[in-house]
Amino acid sequence: MKILLVDGTIIGTKTSVILEKVKDYIEEISTEHTLEIIRFANYEHQFVDGRPMDQYNDDMQLLVSKFEQADGYIIATPIFQGSIPGVLKNAFDFLHPKTMRYKPVSIVANGGTYQHHLVIENQLKPILDYFRCLVTPNYVYTQTSHFDENNIIVDEDVHNRLRELARVFVQYAEMSKGLCKEPIDTH
Ligand SMILES: Cc1cc2nc3c(=O)[nH]c(=O)nc-3n(C[C@H](O)[C@H](O)[C@H](O)COP(=O)(O)O)c2cc1C
Repeated sequence: MKILLVDGTIIGTKTSVILEKVKDYIEEISTEHTLEIIRFANYEHQFVDGRPMDQYNDDMQLLVSKFEQADGYIIATPIFQGSIPGVLKNAFDFLHPKTMRYKPVSIVANGGTYQHHLVIENQLKPILDYFRCLVTPNYVYTQTSHFDENNIIVDEDVHNRLRELARVFVQYAEMSKGLCKEPIDTH
């Protein structure tokens, strides 16, 4: 299966560091999957404003095709102003509602405070529920103190939770194989 690991921010580095770890831990468990990290910082984003698809730039079209071709996702987000970054919501707005339907998703997030893990519960999960994703029950929220000054994850409990997330995600990926995916009709 093709798994897309999405770094849903154009600033910062910690979400990318977490994604690299998740990728390692999934690969330790299973060699069956093709894993690709995409970093929103490497894309030129445009506001989704309802124009026809072919009027968006190449990066936006590439972004949507990567989401459509993937069979599962790890979504990484920082917390900005008690929410997800606008660029991540903009990307979700760009997707056809069936793009991620019945596909497994795990979430990793990083914030400057301990308190904002509930952003995942209250804001990101409802969006993924709208898309009818198979969201794993566990997600990993990290905070500045879990990293050293070089942005290496130094908290062993975080590593354990990321390993557990990878284990459950791989099970969800297996489970999703039996679910019929409806084709996307974009015409
Ligand atoms: C514009 C902005 C708003 C932020 N708002 C929050 C917030 O509401 N809650 C929080 O926990 N952290 C907040 N942060 C902190 C970021 O989540 C944190 O800096 C980031 O995840 C750390 O990644 P980095 O060190 O790789 O930049 C904010 C950061 C920025 C830049």
